[in-house]
Amino acid sequence: MARKKITVVGAGNVGATVAHRLVDMDLGDVVLIDVIEGLPQGKGLDLVESSPILGLDVRVSGSNGYRESVNSDIVVITAGIARKPGMSRDDLLKTNTDIVRGVTREVAKHSPNAILVVVSNPLDAMSYVAYKVSGFPAERVMGMAGILDSARMRYFIAEELHVSVENVSTLVLGSHGDEMVPLIRYSTVAGIPLSDLLSQERIDAIVQRTRQGGAEIVSLLKAGSAYYAPSASVAEMVEAILKDKKKILPCAAFLDGQYGIKGVYLGVPVKLGSRGIEQVLEIGLTLEERGALHRSAEAVRELISRIQL
Ligand code: NAI
Ligand code: 2OP
Repeated sequence: MARKKITVVGAGNVGATVAHRLVDMDLGDVVLIDVIEGLPQGKGLDLVESSPILGLDVRVSGSNGYRESVNSDIVVITAGIARKPGMSRDDLLKTNTDIVRGVTREVAKHSPNAILVVVSNPLDAMSYVAYKVSGFPAERVMGMAGILDSARMRYFIAEELHVSVENVSTLVLGSHGDEMVPLIRYSTVAGIPLSDLLSQERIDAIVQRTRQGGAEIVSLLKAGSAYYAPSASVAEMVEAILKDKKKILPCAAFLDGQYGIKGVYLGVPVKLGSRGIEQVLEIGLTLEERGALHRSAEAVRELISRIQL
């Protein structure tokens, strides 16, 4: 069977760490692309030089162009910048739209059958850009955020209760931002509802810390944002797709009427398999939860309305 090919665009913190995880998991051959000369080549070479130690016959290449990426099965887009001091959200939106637009054009030209996993921020809006610019069906364009936000919440709960992270299951939907929607009713510890184990006050504190999860890392690192947990989240998506696992995960998906929302990308539970998003699951929501999801959608719609493609 031919080996799978995964291209990672952006060889910065997230991109390089994604490539590292993909190699370690032996999910396929990896192509790293970045605009900085030498960066993807150097990181790619360093990575592939670990293959004899790992016992893996993997190919890794780095490039400033897209020729090596031809006919990739999956393309992970991490190219972009993080918000810098003095930069408004609009500036970030415009800069990253320009970057993601350019990257997506090249990707669509060189890998017309690929599945795109977008990571660049603002996540839901950048997923929309990749969807529109690629012209790919919505099932082949998705964004990574919900797995990360849910993992943060899982970790905080496990830490609070002194239990295994494997016991904790959570579901964070909505946009990747202040309007994310952590669903307490769908959060359990070994199947036990979270509200049976923690006071409302502690749950509220964990929800708040989850919402601030990205900012908490930024404030510690000072230069740059999170990449270990983000890259693990991307690797879980890539594995689910390449192994056709039919895994249910919260991902940013294009909504076309599901949950009464149309025309935006938003975090919802999806089934990931070899075709990409094989199903958007519509779970039961209370009026309050549905309202929160709609507010999240409106925040994304407002961002999208300011994008010029
Ligand atoms: P970084 O600055 O370390 O790396 C970004 C890389 O993109 C740089 O090496 C840069 O040269 C490259 N790049 C810029 N323009 C490019 C282009 N046109 N083509 C190819 N490469 C290009 O940033 P980091 O930490 O890797 O984050 C990347 C993006 O992912 C940011 O927008 C960040 O906000 C976002 N992010 C999103 C997460 C999520 O949950 N969705 C989690 C973590 C980061
Ligand atoms: C995060 O949540 C920066 O979006 C990124 O860590």
